[in-house]
Amino acid sequence: MPLLDVKSVSKSFGGVHALRHVSLRVENGMIVGLIGPNGAGKTSFFNCMTGLMLIDEGEILFGENHQKLQDLPPHLILTKGVARTFQNLRIFKHMTLLENVAVGFHARTDSGFWDALFRTKRYRSDEKMILGKSRELLKFIGLKNQNQDLAGNLSYGEQKRLEIARALASSPKILLLDEPVAGMNPVEKEEIALLIRKIRETGISILLIEHDMKMVMPLCDKVVVLDEGKKIAEGSPEQVRKDPRVIKAYLGESC
Ligand SMILES: Nc1ncnc2c1ncn2[C@@H]1O[C@H](COP(=O)(O)OP(=O)(O)O)[C@@H](O)[C@H]1O
Ligand SMILES: [Mg+2]
Repeated sequence: MPLLDVKSVSKSFGGVHALRHVSLRVENGMIVGLIGPNGAGKTSFFNCMTGLMLIDEGEILFGENHQKLQDLPPHLILTKGVARTFQNLRIFKHMTLLENVAVGFHARTDSGFWDALFRTKRYRSDEKMILGKSRELLKFIGLKNQNQDLAGNLSYGEQKRLEIARALASSPKILLLDEPVAGMNPVEKEEIALLIRKIRETGISILLIEHDMKMVMPLCDKVVVLDEGKKIAEGSPEQVRKDPRVIKAYLGESC
């Protein structure tokens, strides 16, 4: 049974068809690659999955109960178990690493405005739990000794990892990563590939937008290719790599 079952989703911006009847499934525990040239519609697809954009047509079904996500606002989609990172970094540079991750946990706690205002017992125990789990997550992504550093002092690669930790703080069932290694050197890329595998081992499924085929091929169980808003291929990394439509649209002569 698929965890995420996207059926014939379309999205236009005026005359631009960012997505045309795109269907895609992510099974439990899979790492699925979403590739395609610039402007293919990959980020728009993520925006539609996470409620930042309303879809024009189609269905987005999620989880065992096939809940429709397309009717929900972003914060509820997050609590259902869909978390993401962005193509451009969105961390709080003036806050510590610990605070950056703690922000991600607030989607999951019960204490509300009054609890926070009066620092109730519930609020204090939530805060303690959040800080403890944030430390664990920082350790998990390999930034454990820098908890109190300002996020802005991290290297670019570390900031990307921090963003992944914050997304994990919401306890997702699926993590959507939008070009997580763009701008990284080969060593940093390999570290992220290892981290993605480690995340999958915890039972979280992954949908990964990535340009670097060297990264996608060994990492992904399945690859979906978009071009001009349409799905032009889907299959194992090997199948997709050999597909003439993909070579023409995306991989170019060098592959
Ligand atoms: N908010 C928006 N308003 C208007 N056009 C958009 C918007 N977001 C994306 N597009 C257009 O949709 C198409 C797909 O863009 P995008 O999803 O960012 O592609 P990719 O991530 O594959 O590079 C592009 O033509 C882009 O200009
Ligand atoms: Mg994009």
